[in-house]
Amino acid sequence: MRQFESLDSQMPIGGMSATEIARRFGTPVYVTDERALRDNYRRISRAFSTQMPTRIHYACKANANLAILRILKQEGSHIDAVSIGEVETCLRAGFPADRILHTGVSVSTRELEEVVSKGVPINIDSFSEMRRLSTIASVHPISMRVNPDVGAGHHDHVVTGSKRSKFGIPKSEIVKAYSEALELGLKPKGLHAHIGAGVQEVTPFVQVTEVLVSIAKELEETLGLRLDFIDVGGGIGIPYRVEEKPMDVDLLAKEITSRIKSGCSVGTVAIEPGRYIVADTTVLLTSVVDLKETQEKRFAGVDAGFNTLIRPSFYGSYHHVSVANKFGRPGELSYDVVGPICESGDFLARDRLLPRLEEGDLIAVYDAGAYGFAMSSQYNSRPRCREVLVNDGSASLIREMETVEDILRHQKVPSRLMI
Ligand code: LLP
Repeated sequence: MRQFESLDSQMPIGGMSATEIARRFGTPVYVTDERALRDNYRRISRAFSTQMPTRIHYACKANANLAILRILKQEGSHIDAVSIGEVETCLRAGFPADRILHTGVSVSTRELEEVVSKGVPINIDSFSEMRRLSTIASVHPISMRVNPDVGAGHHDHVVTGSKRSKFGIPKSEIVKAYSEALELGLKPKGLHAHIGAGVQEVTPFVQVTEVLVSIAKELEETLGLRLDFIDVGGGIGIPYRVEEKPMDVDLLAKEITSRIKSGCSVGTVAIEPGRYIVADTTVLLTSVVDLKETQEKRFAGVDAGFNTLIRPSFYGSYHHVSVANKFGRPGELSYDVVGPICESGDFLARDRLLPRLEEGDLIAVYDAGAYGFAMSSQYNSRPRCREVLVNDGSASLIREMETVEDILRHQKVPSRLMI
């Protein structure tokens, strides 16, 4: 969680007051600070690249806005893409095909054909995917995703590396998979695993690296196959709560790279951070539109709900909130911050001590840059909101708000129902 200094009881973002941004662009709005984005990228990139040759594959599922992708492209990032949609978005943002890695799951043959036609390397998730790919293109750059039987994450839904998850080729079969790939004429260049998301400790990353290194070594010894890179996946957590500490990425980088350097002859490490790069760069600004007090609770009704930010409802995730136009004032009353969606599970924050609220106050929801807009929806026929990029005191709209017309655009009513 980033600490923001108060500016005459106004919350500043990227050299502007949050209130001014909300007045100009309306609410709800996601506001991203470009400086913070570049700083995050540089911090993690430096931590690894001072140890060994490194590729940072930004996991664009966290936030695939074109402006954010452009910034990361300028910084030298590579991309972890999960779908043809993400591949096309990143190509549109200017990433060359060979700086993107398609890591899908349950990938259709149609999607494989499309990714191949774009020249984007493919990280294979299953024997089935490998065999189908070999019938489409034998000389295509590939790597393999192993299920390392090392899983971790902030919620069951996001643990990907455990044995029972749907991801990757089981550890016990991975050497066989490489051997079959070679027989099929494919030329695997790398080995990948991803343990899960929102991991706050270094230990699971060390464990997965050890699994990957021992597989790479076995591939060298048994198949004479020397890989170019080991990809340890993403999942680096961030402190969503005030009392939590950020991950020591220098330590993380040392622990991972020292094991690769000493355990096998692979020369490049790849990592796939999404959340670490974008989460704390962005706040969601939402206006208090309705206040309600019952015998049980005090509700602040705001104009963003789980259609705008689903993480609190979906994972029970904690996002810090503050009152942007009463910034730095002590908390006085306990509120549930709730949205306009017709479900009781529609809340952004519960039981939070805030300054006394009035209609028109501006709530800032912190650390909303990862899986915030990306997971937003049109539920209850509510158009998705704007995104704004702020840099050194100036703000640019990077996504226009949708309209109800956008929601209706692709619907069709059979003519027999029109009479
Ligand atoms: N690499 C792979 C193969 C992944 O599946 C993911 C995330 C990442 C990298 C990036 O993980 P990150 O560094 O962002 O934690 N919607 C959930 C998170 C789901 C993550 C899915 N995969 C949330 O809001 O917490």
